[in-house]
Amino acid sequence: MSNLYLIMAINDRELLTLLKPDDLLPHIGKNISEVDFIDQDLKANFPLKWSKANLTKGSRNEYPPVVWGSGCVFITADGKIWLDFSSQTHNLHLGHNHPVIKESISEYLASDQPFFSSSMFSNIPALEFADLLIKHTPDELTKVNLKLLSGAGAIEFGLRSAITYHIQNGKKNFPILSMRGSYHGETYLNLRVTHREYEKSDLSNIQFHQIEPNNIESFKNKVNELNPVALILEPIIVDDGVVVLEKRYLQQIRNICDEKDICLIYDEVQTGGGWLGSFTAAEHFQVVPDILILAKAFTAGWPLAAVLTKKKYDVLNYTEGAFTAGMNPLVCEIGIKNLSYIFKCNLLKQSNDLGEYLNKSINSVKDKYAEITKVEGLGLIQGIKFNSQTLANSIYEKCLRNGVLVRLSKRGNGDTIILKPPVILTRKIINEFLISFDANIIKSIKH
Ligand SMILES: Cc1ncc(COP(=O)(O)O)c(C=O)c1O
Repeated sequence: MSNLYLIMAINDRELLTLLKPDDLLPHIGKNISEVDFIDQDLKANFPLKWSKANLTKGSRNEYPPVVWGSGCVFITADGKIWLDFSSQTHNLHLGHNHPVIKESISEYLASDQPFFSSSMFSNIPALEFADLLIKHTPDELTKVNLKLLSGAGAIEFGLRSAITYHIQNGKKNFPILSMRGSYHGETYLNLRVTHREYEKSDLSNIQFHQIEPNNIESFKNKVNELNPVALILEPIIVDDGVVVLEKRYLQQIRNICDEKDICLIYDEVQTGGGWLGSFTAAEHFQVVPDILILAKAFTAGWPLAAVLTKKKYDVLNYTEGAFTAGMNPLVCEIGIKNLSYIFKCNLLKQSNDLGEYLNKSINSVKDKYAEITKVEGLGLIQGIKFNSQTLANSIYEKCLRNGVLVRLSKRGNGDTIILKPPVILTRKIINEFLISFDANIIKSIKH
């Protein structure tokens, strides 16, 4: 089977490295066969062959594989040129193939440090990365677990820490609150089939309840009714159409959590890593949770997650809530370089400035169309809400057809286009995006 994917000779790969995103920008949505300056030998490879027949339904999608990327531009196996305004589902905040990340990988591999170390040991990049994360996040968060791979796994660890703390303090029931419209991942069941009787009995006393975002009465009512052990929230509920929680609301939540000993958990899988003009939303809102979860962009999209916690919730023992492939030394090294680069190059200020520019620019588009009801966002996470789901869907489809990768809100009304471009973008790229976006709105309204 593998021959099927032996699709490009080395020479052709070298030709690919000659492509520059700025040169491709005017050709977004076209096929490389239509672009004059692209080498004929390279064009001759496309469309590449691929088959997804062996993938499960859950891991298969309708789009061709991504085969090349640089900055905000990428190419799929059919030869189509794309502008990435969603950073590959919110992962690549430094864009595709950023030189700092590439260098960190080459340097690490050249140094003969381990590919992997057993959980009996730690490794130097993991220890350094942990120090850096503690340094660049709110002072109250003093402990970090890096033995994690995914946002979902990290959230499990965070919730389990909250429950374990309350078990240790004599509680028998564990109501957990979350927010309507939020998303926290796809795992369940594994501890249930693991032979650890004590965990099983505690798991059966966990219940889940939802509260309304930005509605303090909804939270107070559930607190009085249920006496919950934890509240988990996304400071910006991105997939529900970019709902930004209010600072005052978060402060009120913080006060109640302190008063009632409720563990406040921020899922910053989407907001952490540099999109907001601060490294985390906790810093932006100046309201610090008890437990903060990072994944995706904090390691520039490489698989790792982190749970940062106040000392009080550092209650799980060695191997509990740990994933074998977590704390990978190479990925920790990438995380170190990523974080150092963000702070050295002042990327947080850049995401703030570009976010303001993006927001202003989209608002100028909004002024032209009564169909856009709201533009909401912070930094480089922006949502454009339309007055109908059908219209939003049509614009979304047209954006994809024309090579502009955006997201459509999945929960709630499904009426919001979500933008989350790489932090390394420029005003010129924003302007290019807007021209295409505007044209797609016009086409969708007319038809
Ligand atoms: C806010 C949020 N939390 C958790 C997750 C789950 O992360 P993962 O897919 O790495 O398990 C996601 C994934 O998109 C997310 O957006």
